[in-house]
Amino acid sequence: MIIAPGPASIELGLKIAELLGVRTVPIELKTFPDGESYIRYTEDVGGEDVVIVQNTCPPQEVNLIQLVLLIDAAKDLKANSVTAIVPYLAYARQMKRTRSGEAISVKSIIKLIEKAGADRFVTVDIHDKAILKWFNIRVQNLSAIPLLANFLKDHGYAGAFSLAPDDGALEANKKADKILGGGYGCLYKDRDVITGKVEAKRTKFDVKGRDCVVFDDIVSTGETMEVAIRTLKNQGARRVCAACVHPILAAGAIERVLGSGAELIIGTDSVPSTISIVSIAPIIAAALERKA
Ligand code: R5P
Repeated sequence: MIIAPGPASIELGLKIAELLGVRTVPIELKTFPDGESYIRYTEDVGGEDVVIVQNTCPPQEVNLIQLVLLIDAAKDLKANSVTAIVPYLAYARQMKRTRSGEAISVKSIIKLIEKAGADRFVTVDIHDKAILKWFNIRVQNLSAIPLLANFLKDHGYAGAFSLAPDDGALEANKKADKILGGGYGCLYKDRDVITGKVEAKRTKFDVKGRDCVVFDDIVSTGETMEVAIRTLKNQGARRVCAACVHPILAAGAIERVLGSGAELIIGTDSVPSTISIVSIAPIIAAALERKA
């Protein structure tokens, strides 16, 4: 097995290779004056089981096309097999047609990855597991929630209450509660399909004077976290931490989360950022080892 750390995930790819003790193949990247990407494997990948690590976080279109070029080139260069490690699957939130005429974007992304020639796809805390059934290749969805919960347990949050900011995050928060042990709850929210504005339905939680953690897959604008944090603080929570797997972090998101009363915001290195404190490399390395 050799690891090809794609331009969007060089550090993560190197960490995974180090944990596995396998060789990496450096990728040469150039950007043409018109913005197109030039990708080149700098070593022979013929006959190898090539593991491409390339996230599709923003800028999604650039990272996606580089992923497709990496997969297709590896196949064309006669790799024995191609595994795509894509911790954050771009467009995963666009998986339903809520208004007539809408593209079900994530289905198109899956088709691109499969047509390019990937034999296996590995992702982390995919937005909705229902997406997995649209893959025709071997697919695995790993979870970084235990890594985040264990980190927080070791950093003063043992016994904290876990709050899902919406029903989609309930399973993650149940998982976190198995580690933090302070109980869990769920905030049912509505998002306006046109304006995108989030509103929480009134719910009472037993959090007065207690520490709490809100676990979610993504922090993008920070609005979902803000609603959950304000709800907890209004109900008397002591400290609140916002924890996410994929810190997409649109401009101002960290300030928004901290400004709403969180004392801490953390994420993983699925997406490199200033809050990417916890590494997902160990769970990816373990998944790759299991195949060997
Ligand atoms: C939505 O269902 C997701 O799980 C996240 O809660 C959402 O994408 C976070 O986005 P934002 O930070 O913009 O509210």
